[in-house]
Amino acid sequence: MNTEELMQIALEMSAFEEIPADSQIFVRGDNIKKILFGIDVDSAGLLLAKQLNFDAVIAHHPPGDESRIYGIPEVMLRHIEQMKSVGISEKDAKKALEVRRGKIKRNYNVINYDKVTSVARMLEIPFLNIHTPVDVITKNKFDKHINSFLSSDKNAKVSDLLESLNKIDEISKGLTKPALRIGDEESPVGKFFVQMSAGTNGGAAVAKAYFKSGIDTLIYMHLGEEDYKKLKKEKIKANLIVTGHMPSDSIGINIYIRELEKRGISVKRFSGVVAR
Ligand SMILES: [Fe+2]
Ligand SMILES: [Fe+2]
Repeated sequence: MNTEELMQIALEMSAFEEIPADSQIFVRGDNIKKILFGIDVDSAGLLLAKQLNFDAVIAHHPPGDESRIYGIPEVMLRHIEQMKSVGISEKDAKKALEVRRGKIKRNYNVINYDKVTSVARMLEIPFLNIHTPVDVITKNKFDKHINSFLSSDKNAKVSDLLESLNKIDEISKGLTKPALRIGDEESPVGKFFVQMSAGTNGGAAVAKAYFKSGIDTLIYMHLGEEDYKKLKKEKIKANLIVTGHMPSDSIGINIYIRELEKRGISVKRFSGVVAR
């Protein structure tokens, strides 16, 4: 297998026709049989792969180059479609998104985008990152899980949902557990939205837009402290659940890795990927 085929499999699994801006092949390669896969890959991970004779390394989060500096703000535009899907107007969606997206975009010229990818080029080790396609697979899995959970009990409480999320394999094996950051465990789940697969979460402003549109329970992978404080101050009568970053990213990653394994590729999980 080559690096292009590794990317293509992920695109097909997530219904992308082109490689999204936050995913990239940094060093291409052929005859790949043994892969090291990590959520965050740095120079040490690349050296480790070289030392242990892996044929290629795949990172989930963008480690550098265009994928890192331009990719995240670009795929964050996916928030607009997601917000529109629950009835938020395009104007309100753009306004809510710009708070976080602007901050990330302005951070462009701060980052050393070459730090990790230059090491891969010097080591001549095939290296790529697959971000949003894998996150789409994760979001689909959460949507399916929550819909099937609610289909057996439409009046289920938030505490029941937390318990059910804990049963997902990666979450049960991960160190961090789903938690309710805003809201009331005794309240019904009601209308929910899984906000994932748009680069990063949209922070407090995007969460507020969802609540204003009538979402009762919003599901994020994680929520920063500043966003938490802002939302706490608002005295919101809705729920925000965090599912946990590493176990949640691992859900989509493991589904993708199993597709590679079916094709005879051996994959070693490291750097945050919760092994099944
Ligand atoms: Fe992710
Ligand atoms: Fe992530």
